[in-house]
Amino acid sequence: MPKTYNIAVIGGDGTGPEVTVEAQKVLSATAAKFGFILEYQDFDFNGERFLKTGETLPDSAARDLGQFNAILLGAIGHPDVKPGILEKGILLRLRFELDQYINLRPVKLFPGVETPIKHKGPEDLDYVIVRENTGGLYTGIGGFTLKHTEDEVAVQSMVYTHKQVARCLKYAFEYTKRRNKNNTLGLVGKTNVLTYVYDLWERVFEEMGEKKYPEIRRDYYHVDAACMWMVKNPEWFDVLVTGNMFGDIITDLGAITQGGMGIAAGGNINPEGVSMFEPIGGSAPKYTGQNIINPLAAICAGAMLLDTLGEHEAALSIENAVAYVTAKKLKGLAAGEMGYSTTEVGDLIAERVA
Ligand code: IPM
Ligand code: MN
Repeated sequence: MPKTYNIAVIGGDGTGPEVTVEAQKVLSATAAKFGFILEYQDFDFNGERFLKTGETLPDSAARDLGQFNAILLGAIGHPDVKPGILEKGILLRLRFELDQYINLRPVKLFPGVETPIKHKGPEDLDYVIVRENTGGLYTGIGGFTLKHTEDEVAVQSMVYTHKQVARCLKYAFEYTKRRNKNNTLGLVGKTNVLTYVYDLWERVFEEMGEKKYPEIRRDYYHVDAACMWMVKNPEWFDVLVTGNMFGDIITDLGAITQGGMGIAAGGNINPEGVSMFEPIGGSAPKYTGQNIINPLAAICAGAMLLDTLGEHEAALSIENAVAYVTAKKLKGLAAGEMGYSTTEVGDLIAERVA
């Protein structure tokens, strides 16, 4: 009996469903080639559903999705829904309720892809950012007093427990070991100002590294400096680990250096549970239905999904197919500038894998 994996698919809003369909096309071709089976089930959690029902997610959502082997997500974000509602009500809620405490974001420049960084190529841009994904400023602790007056006070707290920091760092050390590139893990923090939260991060980082991972070299960067080096010397990096808010910011910087939202993928990972993979760009509603959006980010998210399921060879074959297509076929990565339609790009990758 071939192995069967059950995959929940949340196409989401805008161009989300168009790119998840292409990712599924590629995943299915890969499964056929490598001898396993993928069964998909669609979930309609998106802005449209919210506008109809007034509900972002049914209460059973995390429980239902928790039965699957993995989740593939397109994009969340609808032009008629006030910013924040769907992001918090769907994306962040799923991350929290499924305890996907890692956000894994590879920064990898594929061949033939244009980077805004002068004189840098694929050999210089190949590192991974491990972003803590459920704590920090995203915890949502805070509030207002005297709202709408000149004396208003607004507070939003950066909260981390030792456990949250330790499980994220453990994942990052293990990931660095498994990746086995330069065996270097860099902590990105702000120990000169955030002297409580990043003091905790740094202490656990040093202690854990020294005791359990002596073979892994430890670096430290303040987040502002890290932004400079990500542009000037990206080749220094192997794996970076950081808190939620800094991770949100620096992964967008990383994404643009690797060619932008057309290709940047990420995984919301619960190492002990169910993980969710997504292209990290938005729903790009203005391109909906035109068959011009770039599906490569969703396809790369699909590769990460397979890798997390343990199908490493299959994942690698998708990555290699993407590298072939960016190097030999595509004119550009932006919507409408690929020289191919969305579905044609999916076909190219699927054929190459097969
Ligand atoms: C991301 C996004 C989300 C985040 C938003 C949409 C809530 O920017 O996945 O990086 O801040 O985490
Ligand atoms: Mn972000």
